[in-house]
Order: sequence, then structure tokens, then C-alpha cells
Amino acid sequence: MPNFEDLRKEAAERIAQAQDLSDLNQLRVQYLGKKGKVQDLMKNMKNLSKEEKPQFGKDVNALKQHVASRIEEKREELAEAEMNMRIEREKIDITLPGRRQTAGNLHPLHIVTQELEDLFIGLGYQVIEGNDIVDDEYCFERANIPKDHPARAMQDSLYIDENNLLRTHTTAIQMKVLEQAAPNLPIKVVCPGKVYRRDDDDATHSHQFMQMEGLVVDRHITLADLKGTLEFLARKMFGQDRQIRFRPSYFPFTEPSVEVDVTCHICNGKGCPTCKGTGWIEILGAGEVHPNVLRMAGYDPEKCSGFAFGVGIERIAMLKYGVDDIRHFYTNDKRFEETFKRFE
Ligand code: PHE
Repeated sequence: MPNFEDLRKEAAERIAQAQDLSDLNQLRVQYLGKKGKVQDLMKNMKNLSKEEKPQFGKDVNALKQHVASRIEEKREELAEAEMNMRIEREKIDITLPGRRQTAGNLHPLHIVTQELEDLFIGLGYQVIEGNDIVDDEYCFERANIPKDHPARAMQDSLYIDENNLLRTHTTAIQMKVLEQAAPNLPIKVVCPGKVYRRDDDDATHSHQFMQMEGLVVDRHITLADLKGTLEFLARKMFGQDRQIRFRPSYFPFTEPSVEVDVTCHICNGKGCPTCKGTGWIEILGAGEVHPNVLRMAGYDPEKCSGFAFGVGIERIAMLKYGVDDIRHFYTNDKRFEETFKRFE
């Protein structure tokens, strides 16, 4: 006869020692499974007399129930321990501050571009954009820069093929506008956009930057109109007290050509490190549209005239916000970009 008592003890001990639910599950299979130790006892049935059989059956069942309830007790105990461990492990520290959703802000170059656009829209200009890839004809030839012109050396770029390149100035847009509008007058446009030039990048140079060029063509447009317009621009961007001055310069597509300086907005013209002690800061190039440019686009330079100017957006942004390195605009450092929230 099997010893029920020994088996009960053995099972109780092993159940008590189970480390986790998977241990316990193995024990359940070993004792209560179809081929388990308790089921095995039934094999003894055939050796028993008729009278003994019912009692034996009862004893096996009692053992089965006993082991099953021990396992169930242990399962509850282990499950609770495991749950407690999980709770401990996954504890949420509700005293930690939450993660704030930070709102983005406009890029400083975008802010300056928008400000300039608003200003010119207010003066009755149209804003016209174009493709970054342009053909040689509109980037250079129409701007009075033929193939052998030395000005081409300063405006080298990435060529897609012999005729197509990444534009070196937004003048390329203006030359298209001019041709499409001819011979209608007036033309008043500003053309903002990215431009590209072969350059060695440093604190003030970048192989990619942004420009906004303006073009006005009508009857009797003179340098005085240009000066009035640029003075308005300088005052809107840098303050009502600003003065501007013209210095003679050269661009192939304007004649005469000028560099435009504005009195320093930091020292008010007295002289400081920002204006290198001169009281003046150079902000853009401009001039009267060259007669060749008008002629090539289909206008008669005897009957109309115009002015053009080109502003570097980065240059304006650097001056306005005191940025000391042009590369800050392109490196996407959040700490830099977030400082412009207050300017919006
Ligand atoms: N296109 C010139 C440049 O990129 C800027 C400019 C525009 C100068 C219009 C004069 C008139 O250098």
C-alpha cells in the first residue's frame, strides 16, 4: 500500500519551497498531471479487494484535493509576491515634474523674411518666388553677365548640367519676371529665396544663404526713389533714427551701382565694435537697372528706368539680433533657435 502520509508531506515540502509560479506549475504537473504521482496511485487499485477499493479511492481523492489546495494557496502567495515586486519595480514617482510640451517658433531667417515681405507689400510690391535651379540664361546672361565676364568668378555654384545651376542670386527670378511682364509697366516686386555660391564657410560666409532682391521699373525711376525706399527699409528694420548713405560700387546689372550703409543701431553712429568704429554698417547692394538688362527683357531703356537692390537676409538677422556666427542659422541648435521666441 502506498504511504499517503509520506506523499502528502513530500508534496507539501516541495510546494512550500517553490520559488515562483513556473516552479509551482511544474509541481502541479508532477503531482496532479495525467501521468503525475497522484494519478499513479490509481494503478494500485487492481490489487485491492472490492471492500478496500472505495476507501482507497476516497484517500486518493483526498490527497488530490489536499495537494491542489496547497498549490492554490502557494499560487496566491507567489502571485501576490510577484505583483508586489512589480509594483515596487514600476513605481511612478509622482513628485517628478511632468514633461512640458514646448511650442516651436519661427526660424529667425523666416521672421526677417516675413518682416521684409510685409514692409514691401505695404509699399505695393508683389512677392514672387522662383526655383532654386535656374538656367544660365536668367542667372547670368540676362543680368548682363556674359560667359567671359569676370563677375562670374565670384558667383560659382553647383551645376546640374552645362546650363542649369543652383541660383547664385535671386536676380535670376527678377530676370524672368521682367521678361514675362514686358512691355507692361510698372513692375514692383521683391523676390526672396535661398541662393548658393562656392565659398569657404566661416563666421560670416556660407555656401548657402538667403536673399531678398527688389526690382522697380517704371517711367522716371531714379536713384532718389531708391534712396527713399531704402531709407524706409532701414528705419523699419533698425529704428526710426537711422540714416543711410550711398557709396559708389559696381554690379554688372546696375548702372550706376551703390553700396548702401546705415548708421549703426548699436551706437547710433558714434562708433562701436559692431560698426568697427565707423558709425556705419553696410547692409546691401543696389543701383539703377542697366539699360542692357531692360533691353534684353524687352523694354526700351529710353522710355523707362528702374532700380534694383539685393539684401542678404542672414546679414540683416545677424545685425538685428546680434548673432555673431552665420552658421548658427543652419545647425539647428534648439537653444539658439529658442532665443527668437521673444521676437515673434
Ligand atoms: N544680385 C546681387 C548679388 O547677389 C545683389 C544686387 C541686387 C545688387 C540688385 C544690386 C542690385 O550680389
